Amino acid sequence: MNTIDTEDTLGLSFCERLPLAFTHGQGSWVWDEAGKRYLDFTSGWGVTCLGHAHPLITHALTRQAARLLQSPNAGFTYSPERAALLRLLQPLLPGELSALYFCNSGAEANDAALKLARKITGRSKIISTHGAFHGRSFNTLSVSRGPENAERYLPLLPAISFVPYGDGAALAQAMDSETAAVIVEPIQGEGGVQIAPEKYLHDAQRLCHAHGALLIVDEVQTGFGRTGKLFALQHSSTPLQPDILTLAKGIAGGFPFAAFAVTAAVRAQLHKDDHGGTYCGNPLGCALAHAVITHLVEHNIPEQVAHKGRQLLDGLHTLQHRHATLVREVRGLGLLCALEFHDATRARELTLRCADQGLLVVPTRNGIIRLLPDLLVSTADITTALAMLDGVLAEAR
Ligand SMILES: Cc1ncc(COP(=O)(O)O)c(C=O)c1O
Repeated sequence: MNTIDTEDTLGLSFCERLPLAFTHGQGSWVWDEAGKRYLDFTSGWGVTCLGHAHPLITHALTRQAARLLQSPNAGFTYSPERAALLRLLQPLLPGELSALYFCNSGAEANDAALKLARKITGRSKIISTHGAFHGRSFNTLSVSRGPENAERYLPLLPAISFVPYGDGAALAQAMDSETAAVIVEPIQGEGGVQIAPEKYLHDAQRLCHAHGALLIVDEVQTGFGRTGKLFALQHSSTPLQPDILTLAKGIAGGFPFAAFAVTAAVRAQLHKDDHGGTYCGNPLGCALAHAVITHLVEHNIPEQVAHKGRQLLDGLHTLQHRHATLVREVRGLGLLCALEFHDATRARELTLRCADQGLLVVPTRNGIIRLLPDLLVSTADITTALAMLDGVLAEAR
């Protein structure tokens, strides 16, 4: 049995896949089992921020694997790798965030943030936004995608409400003295690259402050340079002050790792056993995150992402004009861009056509295609991707 047949027969797949199996990658490119190469504008769903098989990652991984793999931060001992990562990351955090906890996935970071917000405030209500995506654990599912998502798993976490994304007035109306937290993405990634107006996040912050609720900002997808700043919150002209910030995806360049950061005031209310996990803050993940973040900072990668993002977005605008009957809108910030079609049902077909031409893109649930290459992608590869997309759109018309 070949790879695809084996997975289909013996595995449990909960998603629709392309009939492709990749064996290896290099930089922004991956190769399938037949030896065909593809330009990867998915970066493993926004994760492999330094591209595939970056020597820095290979080196950090093998070096740490040969030293010590496991020493959990829920255990009895300290870890030099964890301490080094804390020292590196803490001064880079936006706003007044000053303490960190390392965990394993975006869902876990958000799950912990929601749980801790309830503990700290002693309140139950949590407000999320329509179109949000915060993960697939029970808590995070309960605050994802809006009420239409609820039916399969009822009853979900109680006391959750959803407001339209970007609508400060709706948020003001939903909040009261029972609100524990508002959870929001600065840009909804899975929601189709919806960019919040700057004022919205400030409104959310002001409202949380006024009601004694916590503001949880989810930068799982937008963090670590993806949008052209180290954190998307830093695009704001006046500093934003989340109480909890959640981070994952690019943090360790492809190794499963995540973090949440909190202010001193939140930290003061957290105690022994409030959160933990066997693999949380393991030395291997810490060593990788340290290598990746050091590279991002020392080489000014976010600034380069801003330039390349403009090239990509300008190119997408040209495609929109050229294929106006097909493309309704393009959006993006840094290397997180989207193409929205007049006919949402065509996104999957266009994704397949792109793959056929050798370009991998990410379809979202609402019929939008997302482009999120690695952060080191070359301008030449962006030009190549735009040319491939142009060909696909011309053919599809
Ligand atoms: C904004 C956001 N939050 C949370 C998650 C969940 O992260 P993970 O898949 O690592 O659990 C995602 C995943 O796409 C995301 O985009």
